[in-house]
This record gives sequence, structure tokens and C-alpha cells, in this order.
Amino acid sequence: MKKYFYCNGKILDSRKPAVLINDIGLLRGYGVFDFIRTHQGKIFHFADHFRRFTRSARLLQLRVPLRQQATEKMIHKLLRKNKVREASIRLLLTGGPTADGLSYTDPTFAILIEDIYTFPQKLFTQGAKVITYPHQRLLPTSKNNNYIQAIRLAPERLRQKAVEVLFTDKDKILECSTSNFFIFKGDTLITPRADILPGITRQIVLRLARKKFWVEERAVKISELAQASEAFLTATNKFVMPVVMVDKKKIGKGRVGERTKWLMKSFAEYVEHYR
Ligand SMILES: Cc1ncc(COP(=O)(O)O)c(C=O)c1O
Repeated sequence: MKKYFYCNGKILDSRKPAVLINDIGLLRGYGVFDFIRTHQGKIFHFADHFRRFTRSARLLQLRVPLRQQATEKMIHKLLRKNKVREASIRLLLTGGPTADGLSYTDPTFAILIEDIYTFPQKLFTQGAKVITYPHQRLLPTSKNNNYIQAIRLAPERLRQKAVEVLFTDKDKILECSTSNFFIFKGDTLITPRADILPGITRQIVLRLARKKFWVEERAVKISELAQASEAFLTATNKFVMPVVMVDKKKIGKGRVGERTKWLMKSFAEYVEHYR
């Protein structure tokens, strides 16, 4: 994390404590966030991220204290103060201090500037592995602070050399712990529509894909993985990342497919020309 961050009207030094120990975000995990990044110094799809952040907040009956424009201005100020052009940006909102562990009045709103984490290039050239786990995120359309399963499963995921955990619910595929998930069956791109976080990367990739492929947003059965010729995941910090293995089974031939390569390239071009 970078040195300077914003919290409730002030720019503070991140090495010093800033929130009260009875913040309901800390005591109960009651809070939401959004995770954005810059490309060529520009905040990528800020309006979409801010809209999703506001929606996540509303689902927890929280109100974002700063408006979109003021938040954007503050991010630029923080980038300058931290002397960085490329960074990840985390918006964070909790209920704030609580007396009884259930109610709150003054929200905690923070903006953090973080280093960009880059995944090994090998994952993009050779494809990644994911492991499945039955789990439905709470209030899945919100980006709430509950990532307990993602964190709890991290040692097992690493042991199995997987980049992500693919959550399933009964016979359906949902999304990964921090990414959206897609499969190709021939020229048809298929991805779950409901009970997932509406990813900003997902939305852009679907728009690009419609130029060349059939697109189906619908419930996806786990059994469909066996019929998939290609698979990939999307996220702000992973772009389009090919998936060639789910648990112990190969997707298609177990190699990065041509259609996924086309989407990776299209997305990279889109990012490069983003204004
Ligand atoms: C649960 C979950 N699904 C999907 C995504 C992908 O969303 P985005 O493309 O907006 O980063 C994330 C990103 O952090 C996530 O946490």
C-alpha cells in the first residue's frame, strides 16, 4: 500500500492507525469496497466502478459520503501525492464505529492507493488452473467485504497450483472468488448471468465478444465444462486470463484456445486506446 490515503475528509499516512477499534467493518465485516486501476495514468471505467460501489453500498443500507466527481478528484490528488501514475485504487466504506455491534451512524469512507499486482506471464501464455468449491457469496451482486472463503481456501488453492477458486452452487457454476468465469462451446461464449458480481471487465469483454461470437448469459451447469472447448476468467487485475484446467480435468485440449486469444488481444487493444 502507498503512503498516503484518504479517510473521512483527511489525507493520512497509512503507517499510522486511522479507524477506531469498534468500527463495525472490523468487528462484523460490515462494509463494501470497489477495486479499480489506472491504465496510462487514467482511472479505468471510473463511472462504472463508482456506480457499482454505490449499488453495493445501497444493498447494505450505506450511503457513499462523497459524490462521484469529488471522489475522482481525490483519487487524482492521492496519485499525485504518492507520486504514482499506475496504481490500484480501493474504495472502502464501512458502517463506522458501533456501540452495540449492530448499529452505526457515522460511516468510514477511505480511498487507498495500492501497487498493481501482476500475475506471471506464463499464466497468459500457457493458461491457468482453477479448482471448484461449493459456495454462494452473500449478496452476490454487491462487492461486500466478506472474502472469508477466498482467503480460507488460499492455502489449498496454492497447494493445487491453481490461480483461482471457481464457486459452484448445486449443479451450477457461478464465478471465481475474485473473477468472473466464461466458457466457449464452439463460437458461442457462455457465462453465468445471476448470483454473481457484475464484473466491469466482464461487461467490456462481453461487448467485445458480441462483434465476433454468439453470446449467452445464462445459468451454466457444471456438466457443461466437459463440453467446453475453451475457458477463461476476467477481473480488473487479471484482464482476460485463459483457463486450461478445472480441478483435474482439462478444458478442451488443455491449451489456450484461439477464441480466447482473440479476446485477450481485443481487450489489450481496448485498454491501450482507452481514453
Ligand atoms: C467475486 C468477484 N467476482 C468478479 C470479480 C471481477 O470484477 P471486475 O472485473 O470488476 O474486477 C471480482 C473482482 O474483484 C470479484 O471479487
